[in-house]
Amino acid sequence: MASGPDSVTIRRPDDWHLHLRDGEMMRAVLPYSARQFARAIVMPNLVPPVATVAAAAAYRERIVAAVPPGTDFTPLMTCYLGDATRPDEVELGWREGVFAAGKLYPAHATTNSAEGASDVRNIYPVLERMQRLGMPLLIHGEVTDPEVDIFDREAVFIERVLTPLLDDFPELKVVLEHVTTKDAVDFIRSGRQPLGATITAHHLVINRNAIFAGGIRPHMYCLPIAKREHHRLALREAATSGDQRFFLGTDSAPHARSAKEMDCGCAGIFTAPCAMEIYAQVFDEESRLDRLEAFASLNGPRFYGLPPNEGEIVLERRAWSPPSEVAAGDDSVLAFAAGETLPWALRSDPS
Ligand code: DOR
Ligand code: ZN
Repeated sequence: MASGPDSVTIRRPDDWHLHLRDGEMMRAVLPYSARQFARAIVMPNLVPPVATVAAAAAYRERIVAAVPPGTDFTPLMTCYLGDATRPDEVELGWREGVFAAGKLYPAHATTNSAEGASDVRNIYPVLERMQRLGMPLLIHGEVTDPEVDIFDREAVFIERVLTPLLDDFPELKVVLEHVTTKDAVDFIRSGRQPLGATITAHHLVINRNAIFAGGIRPHMYCLPIAKREHHRLALREAATSGDQRFFLGTDSAPHARSAKEMDCGCAGIFTAPCAMEIYAQVFDEESRLDRLEAFASLNGPRFYGLPPNEGEIVLERRAWSPPSEVAAGDDSVLAFAAGETLPWALRSDPS
């Protein structure tokens, strides 16, 4: 058992990959992110996707209006890149400070990605412009070829899509999102161009067995799907290594219970109610609490060229149970670690 310090104080962290949804769901889940994170990169996979400057500005306003009073939280918006995306629209949004990044979903890779790029070459003119502007490209790194085993889709993406893409755009700032494999960790470390990767809390604590523990567990299903144990261990090593290229992105992705618990349930794990607590637990277990601040609060801003946050949060070693179910309209969302007792808590939260 680890027996490190009983509390850790870090600069306020940011979430570099978050799904906030919209409407009632957004209003229900947003406070859980805002209580811990000062900023978040907000994913654009709404229906319809957030693909124009006007849509992103309006979405940002709805989010800002829903931030609990007295909480300081800044949403950073992303542009959904599809076959029809115009480079001028992306540039306008970047120059106006609306778009912080562009998001590439291979078409049909995951939730609401049908309008993503059907071939990455279809967005080459957009990528050329982004490279010139210094605008980051965020990538859902999975191939969609049904012939490829679901557990191999990230590794195959790196080989078939990402490697040639980086060859074609050697200066493009790229974040490989929610990495789940040792292959991805090794690739990021291969030291090419401005390349970063986000790591979720859940991929640090579950492997693929969790999806089938005693029966099928729809709330453990997300994309990229959790992999074998040796991949999880590689992610933990990368996150806690102090390497600046790895930073925090929860990929907290709420879906109503009714959309998860069905014959074809949605992908997504809702970790916002306990994300920092889980990251703290992992860093403690690895005896690397001293590196939590770099991963959660420094490496991301550095990659994006933004200043780190001024405020602080305190995480303390104290048994704590996260809220298990969050009401959202007529439905509810089940949170990760529902019903569990976690060893780390955020100072502001009661036990
Ligand atoms: O599990 C996931 N859920 N992976 C994604 O890439 C999308 C997300 C969602 O929007 O629900
Ligand atoms: Zn996501």
